[in-house]
Amino acid sequence: MTLIQWDDDRYSTNIDRFDEQHQRLFELLNDLHQAMEEGRAQEEVGDTLRELERYTEYHFGDEEEFMQGCGYAQDCSECFRDHQEMHENFATKVSELREQHENGEYITMDVLQFARDWLDAHIAGDDQDQGYGEYYQQQADD
Ligand SMILES: [Fe+2]
Ligand SMILES: [Fe+2]
Repeated sequence: MTLIQWDDDRYSTNIDRFDEQHQRLFELLNDLHQAMEEGRAQEEVGDTLRELERYTEYHFGDEEEFMQGCGYAQDCSECFRDHQEMHENFATKVSELREQHENGEYITMDVLQFARDWLDAHIAGDDQDQGYGEYYQQQADD
């Protein structure tokens, strides 16, 4: 079963690079979900968690750089700060999850639902990922 499915209308930021990164995040979350559902080896769950942690950090870093580079961060420093804070909180949660798993704690499906809901709201949110997408679009149109 797919936990989160890409939908252009709902999720596209109109920036190919970030759409691709978001799709990769969905894929990793779906892989993790599937590995857990099928009761696959803990090693595999651990590998996917580590990759999710690494890729999340990479993606957030790339986005933050982009927001600074295109002027969005300067035009609305509050939006940028809020956005950064959301990234930090989520990255911390993913790291905690990876640690819990390493310590042999059981990861519940609730946590995956939380990650799904977070990504859904964050990417589709006007004041979040689609906010910088729209800003960039407007700049390009001017
Ligand atoms: Fe994003
Ligand atoms: Fe973001």
